[in-house]
Amino acid sequence: MFRLDGKTALVTGAGSGIGREIALLFAEQGAVVALGDIDEDAAGRVAAEIGATGGQAFPWRLDVTDVESARAAVAAVVERHGRLDILVNNAGIGMVGDLLETAPDDFHRLMAVNVDGVYYCSHAAVAQMLVQDPRGGAIVNLASVAGMVAVARRFAYCTTKGAVISMTQSTAMDYVDQNIRCNCICPGTVETPFVEAYLRKYHAGEIEETRQALHARQPLGRMGRPEEIAPLALYLASDEAAYVTGAQMVIDGGLTAR
Ligand SMILES: NC(=O)c1ccc[n+]([C@@H]2O[C@H](COP(=O)([O-])OP(=O)(O)OC[C@H]3O[C@@H](n4cnc5c(N)ncnc54)[C@H](O)[C@@H]3O)[C@@H](O)[C@H]2O)c1
Repeated sequence: MFRLDGKTALVTGAGSGIGREIALLFAEQGAVVALGDIDEDAAGRVAAEIGATGGQAFPWRLDVTDVESARAAVAAVVERHGRLDILVNNAGIGMVGDLLETAPDDFHRLMAVNVDGVYYCSHAAVAQMLVQDPRGGAIVNLASVAGMVAVARRFAYCTTKGAVISMTQSTAMDYVDQNIRCNCICPGTVETPFVEAYLRKYHAGEIEETRQALHARQPLGRMGRPEEIAPLALYLASDEAAYVTGAQMVIDGGLTAR
């Protein structure tokens, strides 16, 4: 079940956190994985981890905010392996602030990575998926529960993740007859370097108390772990999910059920 033998995947932001875990699992399940990240060294370390366990992966310097960089990443996969079967739009950044606390530069920085990045990478990937033989592929976007419900003082972040959910639905519907599926995952808070950076930047003097509050926010009493998100990405990318498209899959410890 959920094998990816013979498939090629591009995972953006694969050098850290959820993207790293998705890349490790995809490689374990037989995919060749391109590890796209603006942090080339981090992607290189993940490639070494995958190589050490007999998997196939290569690091690629990718800046998702740059349309040419997105095109080059897809082209690199195709040049090496002939086709692109799976794109995981995982690269993303966050910030804290309500509407009035959000400066235009910060708003546009988040839009550039979280929205333009998904658009550019999906554009390059879909163009390839339509011309390859057999035609088609699967796109998995990392949205967030913050795109479904308001999280306090996350104005820009919520905005970008709402856009990711919309892009997922549009892409799914526009290519539904061309064997391209597109779905998104909406995690609640997941313990990754993303959360550690947030704790250091916004709660430097109260890291442990804030970490405990983040755990307690979920009805299940703890944050999620990257290895609890990766299996859903695997399912959505696999042939077993042939009937799933345009979906928003929530993994949030019960946060949105309350
Ligand atoms: N951690 C959470 O609580 C959480 C919750 C919901 C959704 N998400 C989403 O999941 C995704 C991954 O989050 P994470 O927690 O693993 O983050 P992370 O900070 O651990 O990793 C993000 C990776 O993206 C890379 N990156 C950043 N900007 C980039 C760019 N311009 N081009 C290419 N790569 C870039 C970083 O170098 C890093 O390796 C993000 O889209 C995030 O919004 C995270």
